[in-house]
Amino acid sequence: MRDLFERFKVIPVLIFAELKDAAPTAAALISGGLPVLEVTLRTDAAWNALENIIAAHPDAVTGVGTVLEPEQMMRAKEIGAKFAVSPGFDPLLAAAAREQDLFYIPGVATASEVMLARRAGFRFLKFFPAEAAGGKAMLQSFASPFNDITFCPTGGVNAENFNDYLTLPNVACVGGSWVATAADMERGDWQGIAAKAHAARTVAGPSHPARD
Ligand code: 3PG
Repeated sequence: MRDLFERFKVIPVLIFAELKDAAPTAAALISGGLPVLEVTLRTDAAWNALENIIAAHPDAVTGVGTVLEPEQMMRAKEIGAKFAVSPGFDPLLAAAAREQDLFYIPGVATASEVMLARRAGFRFLKFFPAEAAGGKAMLQSFASPFNDITFCPTGGVNAENFNDYLTLPNVACVGGSWVATAADMERGDWQGIAAKAHAARTVAGPSHPARD
């Protein structure tokens, strides 16, 4: 699973205000070359959006984001989500993900949180909120003490800065909502979403080997 994150490198973080936006947004992102999709559990439409996308695009790699409760791991697994992401680190969520055998990416923002997640067995972590928590400089500072940890920065990552993050040897991929924003969805700008996905995919280029 982690190989897929490293391969596609840009993970759209999706916040669906309206269920009807799920299918066309996913189709646009996949056609643009980004098939690893994170559907955040932040809206009433989220679970149905996840189901719709998984049904319509079984070959895409669709997971859930903003997982805050252990029960959500079970529901995500039942629906067929391939991974789960949280903004922070919570040992109860880590245990729930293990129980469900669901690939899990916990979030961290400090050295102590990296240590806690590492102690729990995780080597691939979301760095959130990336820009507000120190950005590229912070990840560069993490590289030497945590030389067995790879990060997926998200939060404030956008079309202008994502490739800076991807140049770091301890960054496997980035996540962000810029590829498919609420405004894009409101306008029904599926072509624009596909174009942004394609641009991100092109700039990100072929995968570079990140750390194990
Ligand atoms: C996330 O959960 O990863 C973030 O909300 C994405 O942040 P962004 O909206 O700044 O891209």
